[in-house]
Amino acid sequence: MKQWFEEKYGSSSESVKLFYAPGRVNLIGEHTDYNGGYVFPAALTLGTWMMVRKRQDQEIHLASVDFAPVGVLNNLAEAVYDPKDDWINYPKGILHHLVRAGFSFSGYDVLYAGNLPNGAGLSSSASIQVVTGYGLLSAEGHAVDRVQLALAAQRSENEFLGVQCGIMDQFTSAMGKRSHALLLQCDTLEYKHIPFEAQGCKLIIGNTNKRRGLVDSEYNARRSQCEQAVTDLRAVIPGLQQLGELTLQQYEEAEAAIQDAVVRKRARHVVEEIDRVLRSVEALKTQDLSLFGELMNASHDSLRDYYEVTCDELNVMVEEARRVQGTFGSRMTGAGFGGCTVSLVQEEAVQPFIEHVGRTYEEKTGLKPEFYVADIGDGACQLDL
Ligand code: GLA
Repeated sequence: MKQWFEEKYGSSSESVKLFYAPGRVNLIGEHTDYNGGYVFPAALTLGTWMMVRKRQDQEIHLASVDFAPVGVLNNLAEAVYDPKDDWINYPKGILHHLVRAGFSFSGYDVLYAGNLPNGAGLSSSASIQVVTGYGLLSAEGHAVDRVQLALAAQRSENEFLGVQCGIMDQFTSAMGKRSHALLLQCDTLEYKHIPFEAQGCKLIIGNTNKRRGLVDSEYNARRSQCEQAVTDLRAVIPGLQQLGELTLQQYEEAEAAIQDAVVRKRARHVVEEIDRVLRSVEALKTQDLSLFGELMNASHDSLRDYYEVTCDELNVMVEEARRVQGTFGSRMTGAGFGGCTVSLVQEEAVQPFIEHVGRTYEEKTGLKPEFYVADIGDGACQLDL
């Protein structure tokens, strides 16, 4: 990166700084964040790095080691999404929202590099926005409020980029902690770092390499169905705001008020999934990895049958993963419709897992998968150069 930086931007007496923000894997708690429920993700040691150096003028110049287009930002307050700007829209979106929140920025030369697979559901877009906000706020000498940063990055996704996502990805990228998973209540934003001590086990992320088609439109459709469920349930639970307020028992007593059978399935997934998150945290605390794995399996099955956000490729990868002796559990992770799976696997089964799932998945789908043995890393930070 250093070499690229100098070739692209030349030399200067100003110092160069390096920042990092990770992608995430969600262990359990899928499609619960925008329903005010719990999620249980972890930050990865894969992510986006950003090198910055102050310029003499007020322009922000952006370039990437990985993508061709370069950009110059002048007037952040007036910035708008432009499809021609490609990846530049991510830094533009977060900086626009930070300016709207009252921050100002001087001019910088900026260079990015990342090692997250793009479009694979490991939150590469959250990591680029969080690293941009964290890095430029720090370079300007502002104290960074990580929760406010995550919220600004979510607003940028919702309002600037038009993706109606919840808070999980941005929050994890900003707040992750090495060797810990993050239990987050997405309504109050109360959180706890829970040591991820799965003794003798590894998390394996499997990339189906299936492009996530339809994800935005289907994602937004699921959100509206959840809102419909809340509207119907208000007939028997006045004042209900979000599905995340309900215990499983309360939901079961009221479920008949939901008119549409599909909407009922969606709501059932959400309420049961929130319950599974809390049970999985207990399972981890007591080192009951078999139970943790069963809950992961139940989560996937519910996303397949009730929430209907899996696809053949995800289902095949999960089925093959579960056939490997030493796999405790396996599920899709992220929004769905392609992307990645996450599996909890005994250490000695890691190689057999990669061999078996790699071979059978390719035979059945014609796609070549990729595997990452995940390490849980820290959230956004500055690194020594
Ligand atoms: C995407 C969104 C998140 C969350 C997950 C599903 O990753 O960005 O906010 O809704 O899907 O759990």
